[in-house]
Amino acid sequence: MTPASRPSPPASAFTARRLISIDDLGDSEITYILNLAEHYAGFLQRSAPAPQRLAGRTQINLFFEDSTRTNLSFDLAGKKLGADVVNVPVSASSIHKGESLVDTAQTLAAMGADIMIVRAKEEGLHERLDKLLSCVVVNGGAGALEHPTQALLDAATIRSQFGRIEGLTVAICGDVKHSRVAGSDARLFTRLGATVRFVGPAHLMPDGDQFTDVERYENLKDGLAGADIVMGLRMQFERMGDGDADAAKGYFEEFGLSHETIKLAKPGAFVMHPGPMNRGVEIDGALADDPERSLILRQVFYGVATRMACLDALVGAP
Ligand code: CP
Repeated sequence: MTPASRPSPPASAFTARRLISIDDLGDSEITYILNLAEHYAGFLQRSAPAPQRLAGRTQINLFFEDSTRTNLSFDLAGKKLGADVVNVPVSASSIHKGESLVDTAQTLAAMGADIMIVRAKEEGLHERLDKLLSCVVVNGGAGALEHPTQALLDAATIRSQFGRIEGLTVAICGDVKHSRVAGSDARLFTRLGATVRFVGPAHLMPDGDQFTDVERYENLKDGLAGADIVMGLRMQFERMGDGDADAAKGYFEEFGLSHETIKLAKPGAFVMHPGPMNRGVEIDGALADDPERSLILRQVFYGVATRMACLDALVGAP
C-alpha cells in the first residue's frame, strides 16, 4: 500500500473516544483500524517516515505494571506519528509518597495530555479515568480483564498471513483464566467471524458463565484438531492464588506447544504468543523461533503499526 492509498474512515465516521475494551469499537471502526495498521505497516517495512498526524499532540504512557512490548511500541508509535511522548517513570514517581493512581493520572492529564495509555490491574480504574480526565484513555492492559490493542495487533497479524479472520479456527491454549489477552482476543476474533477455542486444564479455564460462545477443550488432541492458529499463553503465576501455585508441574508434558504437538493442528498451522514467553513452560523455544511456523515476532512488528493506527484514529489530525 502506498501513502496515497490511506484507508478511508468508516462512512459513519470514527467516533470512539476511548479504547478500554474491544467493545468500545463498532465493527466498521475495527475494520478501519486493521486497514490503517496495514497502511502503517507499509511505512515501517519501507523504513519510510510516516505522516506526522499526531504533531502537536501529547501522549502519556502510564504503566503501573511491567511491560516491554506494549509500553515501548506505544512509545515508538507515537513518536513515528510526531507526538510529544512522555513515558512516566512510575518506580521513581510520587506514587511512592502515597499519591493515588487516580491523582497521578489527573496530575499528568493537567499537564496537557491529549491521550493517556494506562496499564493497571485495578478493576474499573480505566473507566473511572475515562470519566475524570479530559484526554482520551487507552487501556494498555487491565489485570486479567482486557488488552484491546493486543487483540487488534493479533488480528492484524493473522490478517497479514491469511488475508482474513473470518472462517479461521483459533485455539487459545494455556492459562486462559488469568489472561487479559485471551478474553480480548476471543471477543474480537468471534466478532470477526473466527471460531475460537479455549484449550487447557480445567483449573486454568474461566468460570463457566463466561465466554459461553467459546468452545472449551481440556486436551490438546481435540483442542488443536483443525486449528489454523494456535495461540500460546504465558502461565501468569503473579495472578494465581495458592491453589494454582503448582500450575506448571507436568504442564509442558500435557499442554506444551512444540513441533510435535503443533502436528495436532491443521497442516501448516501457525503458532502465536502475545509474550512475554516462558520457554519450556508453555512453548518450546525451537517452535517459537521457527520462521516457517511462528508469527510471534510478526506480532511484535504489528504491535507498532497497530498502535500507530489506534493513536491516529483516536487523536490524529482530521
Ligand atoms: N503482550 C504484552 O502485553 O507484553 P508486555 O507485557 O511486554 O507489554
